[in-house]
Amino acid sequence: MTLFSGAAAEFWMRWVHYIFGILWIGHLYYFNFSQMAFMGEADAATKSVVLQKLSPRTMFWFRWGAMFTFLSGWGMIGHKMGAAGSTIATSAWGTIILSGGILGTLMFLNVWLLIWPNNKIMIENAIKTAKGEAAIPGVADLAARASVASRTNTLFSIPMLFFMGAASHLPLVLSPEKSLVPYWCTYAIIVGLLQLNAMKGKMGPMQKLGGVIHFGVLLSLALYFAMEFLAG
Ligand code: HEM
Repeated sequence: MTLFSGAAAEFWMRWVHYIFGILWIGHLYYFNFSQMAFMGEADAATKSVVLQKLSPRTMFWFRWGAMFTFLSGWGMIGHKMGAAGSTIATSAWGTIILSGGILGTLMFLNVWLLIWPNNKIMIENAIKTAKGEAAIPGVADLAARASVASRTNTLFSIPMLFFMGAASHLPLVLSPEKSLVPYWCTYAIIVGLLQLNAMKGKMGPMQKLGGVIHFGVLLSLALYFAMEFLAG
């Protein structure tokens, strides 16, 4: 029974990874493709019901989807390193999967440290105001910050999935003579600036859904070309 042997440990993690990845990114796309525009048009009473009754449910599956995708993803990397040694990190597979895994990890941190804490206060605020109590001060700023982080995660999801798929299915060869330092510096600058914007900045071109999708494709190609030209 191959499925229940030690050889299948990574396969189990992979299966878990797919299911929770769909759960997480499915909710992320629902928020960004449908709910944000709906909330922009809805009246105050409808918004309050969505926040009080729908958000606690969507936020539950969203954040725990993120948690188990993250754990199973790093579990697979740990398992591969255990079997093949740490040199795997500098291989083509390692460079590609780390490029995707770091984006996924930033997305996970954005969920747990920005989007969920801010949404929790928005939910509490809707419950309080529905009871006639005073609104929590600064709640509009928290909502705006959560939206920028959520849009950034939608942006990051496009190159993140590019790299997840490319690791085993794009026959990219890296040159053993070239150092990976220029690639990782370029990656750190581009991704670092976008992450900083998620924490402190504004939506910019991510305001519109079309903008975030185009920008995501552009970011995927920019990171791919950086890898191909600087390390390939
Ligand atoms: C949070 C950080 C993440 C890490 C560290 C990570 C890590 C990994 C690893 C190690 C693999 C195996 C790749 C291979 O065997 O070639 C993988 C595959 C995959 N990951 Fe992730 N992942 C993360 C997030 C995500 C997310 C959010 C999704 C969204 C759905 C996702 C979707 C996938 C898919 C579809 C594959 C399959 C690729 C294949 O079968 O070749 N991952 N991931």
